[in-house]
Amino acid sequence: MIFVTNNRHKLEEVSAILGDSIELKSLKEIGCTDDIPETADTLEGNALMKARYIYERYGQDCFADDTGLEVDALDGAPGVYSARYAGPGHDSEANMQKLLEELDGKNDRHAQFRTVIALIIKGEEFLFEGVVKGTILEEREGEGGFGYDPIFRPEGYDHSFALLGNDIKNRISHRARAVEKLCKFLAEHSPCSSYKC
Ligand code: IMP
Repeated sequence: MIFVTNNRHKLEEVSAILGDSIELKSLKEIGCTDDIPETADTLEGNALMKARYIYERYGQDCFADDTGLEVDALDGAPGVYSARYAGPGHDSEANMQKLLEELDGKNDRHAQFRTVIALIIKGEEFLFEGVVKGTILEEREGEGGFGYDPIFRPEGYDHSFALLGNDIKNRISHRARAVEKLCKFLAEHSPCSSYKC
């Protein structure tokens, strides 16, 4: 199945969560180098936009995800704009810096990562959501992971996603939870019996 992404970290995470159950192909592997539009104002809208873009052009079953970091004290920002929070450059360092500055002096540091996966099978569309709650740290901790991982500490843990490492992140993360739902759905409901999770 095509995973509509060129983000190496995401591909590795999702492949690790799925194991041998489904062979994933990235955009690169299907020869798609287009800059796929992500101009919706919701995670659901963006995930669907990306999946539809590929389904309409390649006619193959596919799924796309969109993730946002939703911070309580900022009324849910950066949310759907997480990738471009500090500007159009998709610069994780700058994004984290901006977020730390926006939260400077604020006591409420609660936040959640939310992932929405849009799946298209034989033209039918389905959405799956995964959420992990946590807090935004005062400063970066660890160098693993990607994006906002160094400043996000999931509930029930003492360290950031970056420091906890991939094994733990892949068990409890927003993306893991959404992928588990996708997997369960494919195993139980897919009209195409070739998907077995
Ligand atoms: P995307 O649009 O789903 O690629 O993600 C939006 C933004 O959220 C990007 O800037 C990513 O760096 C960030 N992001 C997505 N997933 C994660 C994650 O698992 N950890 C930290 N940051 C993430």
